[in-house]
Amino acid sequence: MDYLQLQGSQSLKGKIKISGAKNASLPLIAMTILANNNVKICNLPHVADINTLLKLLTNLGASCDRTNDSIYVDTSKLNETKATYDIVKTMRASILVLGPLLARFGHCEVSLPGGCAIGQRPVDLHLKALEQMGANIEIKNGYIEATAPNGLKGCDIVFDKITVTGTANIVMAAALAHGKTTITNAAREPEVVQLCKVLNESGIKIQGIGTAFLSVRGTAGKLIDIVNFSVIPDRIEAGTYLCAGAITNSKLTITNTDPSHLGAVIAKLEEMGFCINSTKNTITINPTKTIKPVKIVTREYPAFPTDMQAQFMALATQANGVSIIEERLFENRFMHVSELQRMGADISLNGHTATINGKSKLSATDVMATDLRASSALVLAALVATGETNIHRIYHLDRGYDSLEKKLEGVGAKIKRLKE
Ligand code: EPZ
Repeated sequence: MDYLQLQGSQSLKGKIKISGAKNASLPLIAMTILANNNVKICNLPHVADINTLLKLLTNLGASCDRTNDSIYVDTSKLNETKATYDIVKTMRASILVLGPLLARFGHCEVSLPGGCAIGQRPVDLHLKALEQMGANIEIKNGYIEATAPNGLKGCDIVFDKITVTGTANIVMAAALAHGKTTITNAAREPEVVQLCKVLNESGIKIQGIGTAFLSVRGTAGKLIDIVNFSVIPDRIEAGTYLCAGAITNSKLTITNTDPSHLGAVIAKLEEMGFCINSTKNTITINPTKTIKPVKIVTREYPAFPTDMQAQFMALATQANGVSIIEERLFENRFMHVSELQRMGADISLNGHTATINGKSKLSATDVMATDLRASSALVLAALVATGETNIHRIYHLDRGYDSLEKKLEGVGAKIKRLKE
């Protein structure tokens, strides 16, 4: 297994180019199951989760022809509708094939994704909505067995909770349903917006894009000629590198990004004392004399994203004063706390709330990544810790960060990828 070795207390300088968004790429790749044509996708990030989903589609009979960061996905020869446990267990977002497979074939079996380090991650809202659309759903031996022999029927769905992949699944199912589907309490994340925009540009009438109320007019089972498109930049990758600039008190420019996707994150960095300058597709963070403490509550978009919670906790260890971070979306998304404490951070937990007493002097040690965003928090902490930090189990990091060590090395970080 690989591990990362970082020399701390380096300041950074220069520019980092952001890759395509992992969480936009996943539903967009699943969407090709609805296609009548060979779909060209540009700006796909080179991350493990994308490879996993492409492998799943290939197992179902699709062909994926990838050159650099674009790919052609041809699902015309799909001949399998079972997403097996061996793949789904490695990436729970595989649940995104459920809606499209059921809408296209009228039946499918998808392994229940099960939980992960950050929480239970149920999919009950996905299943309840598909049942409302006329599907028969049974859970057998750990698999979701879904059938809709006469196709799915448009109807009015109200999500009890905002669910990102739940909204994506139902939008894709609705695209091939009979009649109109409305979704109330839909997710408004930019990744969901791009899925809706691509479907809309491909002829599926979708109204309310970007709002919590969507309506989708289906094709009654007719496959879609999907337009070629380029994946939006990854806002969480961009936010992570802004935190790298912040925690090392460096001037850093992030390019190929969309500042409008990072409003809540930029606002929090400014609250902490950083001066941020943005253009249409770049964001520059400038050093500050002292970092102010911050209060953060994670919420659905456009509020502060849970996927940036761990990174801001690492940054808060360098603030002068007491910061409070409340995690409202997942029940166990504080796995990074114990590793940060081992590096010298002064953090106490009370249920879903973490209190971070800064400023702590962090010292290098061996630490272990537990989940994708926790690993990026450890990288940030290692950038300021005194000495040499080794971060183990970085396969978590490789799931969602494209060439992280190369990008950080390019702005002056002393970081190496080594073999255990
Ligand atoms: C997406 O996960 C993202 N993953 C996550 O990013 C992100 O943290 C999350 O949205 C929240 O923004 C992808 O897009 C691939 P949810 P998702 O359904 O869709 C509960 C990362 O680091 N819920 O919006 O699985 C759920 O338990 C990953 O890139 C139900 O109760 O999240 C959670 O408390 C981690 N029943 C809340 O809703 C359901 O059927 C939000 O979950 C579905 C969800």
